[in-house]
Amino acid sequence: MTLRPILIHPDPRLKKVTDPVTEVTADLRTLAADMLETMYDAPGIGLAAPQVGVMLRMMVMDCVKDDATPARPMVLLNPEVSWSSEDRSTYEEGCLSIPEQYADVERPAEVEVRWMDLDGASQTERFDGLWATCVQHEIDHLNGKLFIDYLKPLKRQMITRKMQKLKRERARA
Ligand code: NI
Repeated sequence: MTLRPILIHPDPRLKKVTDPVTEVTADLRTLAADMLETMYDAPGIGLAAPQVGVMLRMMVMDCVKDDATPARPMVLLNPEVSWSSEDRSTYEEGCLSIPEQYADVERPAEVEVRWMDLDGASQTERFDGLWATCVQHEIDHLNGKLFIDYLKPLKRQMITRKMQKLKRERARA
């Protein structure tokens, strides 16, 4: 497995709608394993393919936080929200492509998501709590949407300028 570099906002690839996965190939399985390793290493609880420069509808997540619960690495291909609750909840979100920036985002508290797994089988599951926030955040990535797109323009511009500065510093280092 290989750690893949995570793209930092602003990057045109983070603003694009990604393509559906049509076939589970060996390369795709490798990518899934790499994405999980990259996510755990970061560390983060979710990662979408465009964040590593792959323009496919594919994401990984594991929102298990306490050490007593076994890890639950999930790989979702072509995930789609098939139902969302009217109840909403607010979480302070962050993103591996927008390091060290956090802001409250309100989303449906519960969602049902349909996806294809690595065996090509269709799966459906209802998520709540942090899992619901995470899966919606990652599906947004597949549609070129970032959590800062939910914020007021001024706040979004402030974060974007910080990220531009961070990228300049990293390029120089
Ligand atoms: Ni993100």
